[in-house]
Amino acid sequence: MARPRPWIEAFAPATVSNLGPGFDCLGLALRGPGDRVRARLSERSGVKIVSVEGDGGKLPREAERNTAGVAVAALLRRYAPEAGIELELHKGLPLGSGLGSSGASACAALVAADAALGLGLAPTQMVDLAREGELVACGAAHPDNVAPALLGGIVLVTCVEPLRVINLPVPKDLWIAVYTPGCQVNTADARRVLPGLVPLPATVQQAARLGLLVHALHEGDLALLGEAIVDDIVEPVRAQLIPGFLDAKAAAQEAGALACSISGSGPTTFALAASASRAEALLLILEECFSLIGVPGKGHVDQVGPGARVLSTPLH
Ligand code: HSE
Repeated sequence: MARPRPWIEAFAPATVSNLGPGFDCLGLALRGPGDRVRARLSERSGVKIVSVEGDGGKLPREAERNTAGVAVAALLRRYAPEAGIELELHKGLPLGSGLGSSGASACAALVAADAALGLGLAPTQMVDLAREGELVACGAAHPDNVAPALLGGIVLVTCVEPLRVINLPVPKDLWIAVYTPGCQVNTADARRVLPGLVPLPATVQQAARLGLLVHALHEGDLALLGEAIVDDIVEPVRAQLIPGFLDAKAAAQEAGALACSISGSGPTTFALAASASRAEALLLILEECFSLIGVPGKGHVDQVGPGARVLSTPLH
């Protein structure tokens, strides 16, 4: 009997995408939470999901319906058509939270599978593969979670065909209060409510703010960054899906948040600050507001962090 191949474990971080004016093209990787995936070569070609933990039994186990399975199948199709990969998923991120949970599983799976196969792909080469996972998860292959989850830092996707991604400078004093209220928002639903067409003046304003945001990051100017993180197109529509969001945002702004908005499609809400202690204070405010409205959840203070990486390499 053939000896079992060693498992290789990889981690991919949670992400905060959109960041106000950057709908579907801007996101950042958090330093703290994320998903872990183990991969190993198998005798049978194709992808098999052996186990999933931490999802409360909610995620599909069939590889072709699971973001990690779909992403690794795309990797095999393109780079190793004869090979077989088994996956074990350990969800660290809540589902339907707006923290890029589906993307994190796909990215960790790709990094683990890439190492198991010895392909040595660059993170940018994996973005397209991970986007295939997003397509099955929510019906849109948006890149703004998987690009920062793979590359780390703050990432702007300027084009998807062909893919072009740019890592923007990360101000070192940027702190993020991240609070996930106790309700779920399905990304597909949160995309269905968006307007198909946007009036020209609002589009111009949004473009100007995204330009300002990039400028602020290059200048390391956190006040300017806060000024740029305003979204009059997507946020007002999605705010209706998150009980208590508008009150929580108003309270965070009153308490001096540089900015406060929805992370991805929500319901996670983030507030920016220029110090850890300010971010801790904002976290308490978000917690109080969401608890008051009856949707208490979980939060933490974080910073921008690195992208997906291998955690363990097997001994030979
Ligand atoms: N840009 C995507 C959206 C992110 O807002 O729908 C989903 O987490």
